[in-house]
Amino acid sequence: MDPLLDSLFPSPDDIPEAWHLGEPLEQRDYLVNGELRRWDGPLATVRSPVWLKQADGERQVILGSAPLLDADTALTALDAAVQAYDKGRGSWPNMRVAERIQHVENFLARMREQRTAVVKLLMWEIGKNLKDSEKEFDRTCDYIVDTINALKDLDRRSSRFELEQGTLGQIRRAPLGVALCMGPYNYPLNETFTTLIPALIMGNTVVFKPAKFGVLLIRPLLEAFRDSFPPGVINVIYGRGRETVSALMASGKVDVFAFIGTHKAASDLKKLHPRPHRLRAALGLDAKNPGIVLPQVDLDNAVEEAVTGALSFNGQRCTALKILFVHEDVVEAFLDKFQRKLAALKPGMPWEPGVALTPLPEPGKVDYLDGLVADATAKGARVLNEGGGQSRGSFFYPALLYPVNRDMRVYHEEQFGPVVPVVPYRDLQSVIDYVLDSDYGQQLSLFGNDPQTIGSLVDIFANQVGRINLNAQCQRGPDTYPFNGRKNSAEGTLSVHDALRVFSIRTLVATRFQEANKTLISEIIRNRQSSFLTTDYIF
Ligand code: G3H
Repeated sequence: MDPLLDSLFPSPDDIPEAWHLGEPLEQRDYLVNGELRRWDGPLATVRSPVWLKQADGERQVILGSAPLLDADTALTALDAAVQAYDKGRGSWPNMRVAERIQHVENFLARMREQRTAVVKLLMWEIGKNLKDSEKEFDRTCDYIVDTINALKDLDRRSSRFELEQGTLGQIRRAPLGVALCMGPYNYPLNETFTTLIPALIMGNTVVFKPAKFGVLLIRPLLEAFRDSFPPGVINVIYGRGRETVSALMASGKVDVFAFIGTHKAASDLKKLHPRPHRLRAALGLDAKNPGIVLPQVDLDNAVEEAVTGALSFNGQRCTALKILFVHEDVVEAFLDKFQRKLAALKPGMPWEPGVALTPLPEPGKVDYLDGLVADATAKGARVLNEGGGQSRGSFFYPALLYPVNRDMRVYHEEQFGPVVPVVPYRDLQSVIDYVLDSDYGQQLSLFGNDPQTIGSLVDIFANQVGRINLNAQCQRGPDTYPFNGRKNSAEGTLSVHDALRVFSIRTLVATRFQEANKTLISEIIRNRQSSFLTTDYIF
């Protein structure tokens, strides 16, 4: 492993020209009320997970710096959003849906122009490999297109009147107010935009704070935000959550809180809001998704899925398989195949062709993972794979830990990194109990081909998690499917369609089905005197 680690980090000359960084980016701009404002206060240094060989050894790359706004400045962004919403009287919440869609389409066109810049920063800031960085960007654009189409569908369905028990009604979805959108560092573009775009397109105004890593990659989009939306509709702030977001929540002026992070942070922030019943939340939180390998199984498929499920983007996905329960009858063969697949994963820098294992962006993460492995090995587990758990700088080579039991931290904690704990079992009830007693309930994977066993496990687990994957790893996509979780894993359901619901409320205009009322409504529609009460049909 040592030679591999020695050659892991490149020298500056080894970086392909297309991915050269240039000078560190000192970002002082933030977006408030349709203006890029300059922050003259303190900045946070933005470090890359990539280290480079220098004359005096390997050193972490400094990518630049980003504004550390204070609470008062963050509140100016909130005020701009509050003003643009104007208690629901602003031009944005009242705009016809077709027009709002036009604004989002303009934004999308401008965003597409920034693909290379954003992809480059995804690689440098969070260490995501080129293929997955491109996928994240393209998937986000597709999500926006799908959202527009879903809204057109929704609007077409709402453009007609209903008649029930002598009451004529038109039901539409109306915005909720000011949304605060915050995404996670593992999908700093995609996950943030899966709340930000639905929030905007439904007529809310937004304050958006980028994730703790993956900050600079939003910079190339600021002008597109500024130019595509009316002032105050989208505001982008930077800084420490503790300082900025706490102040926003404590103001009581946030109506929707869209957050992806830990349940602890989400709970702390929600508690700051003085009017909890007025705050709607869409939360994607912690998970400890188990992969359960049954004795009757296509082992090659189970291993294939478990390796990618546990280790794609170095295990830094909320949907990653974070613990594997493997039946004793197949565990030896499973571990053997797993190690061979793992050994074939290529470590390297994000832009290297075919690279699968990359350095980690979180400071202190390698030490944390070391601690998990040390705890497990002290309690009887072994690192099975050659080089497992070795590290260099920000890089941690995956550790396959076996046999893991309940006394070990890794059995309970969400590692969110390249440590793969395998628990052998004979009695399936012990695995069922793990799921029943878990504080998390996002997803799980079942690997097996006995219909009787799978059928009964599906019934047991359907009331425990949001998605049961059969002979497949856990994952969020396709984005048209619901993505949610139980217990501490989520609040609310997201999908292209569901997100439009999350950021809006059904509102009904109703009247007795009588001549005078029919005439009144017909007149309003004919004279286009309302943008809510309309039969306009978006093609
Ligand atoms: O980190 C959580 C993501 O929503 C997972 O998405 O399953 O597509 O990687 P993914």
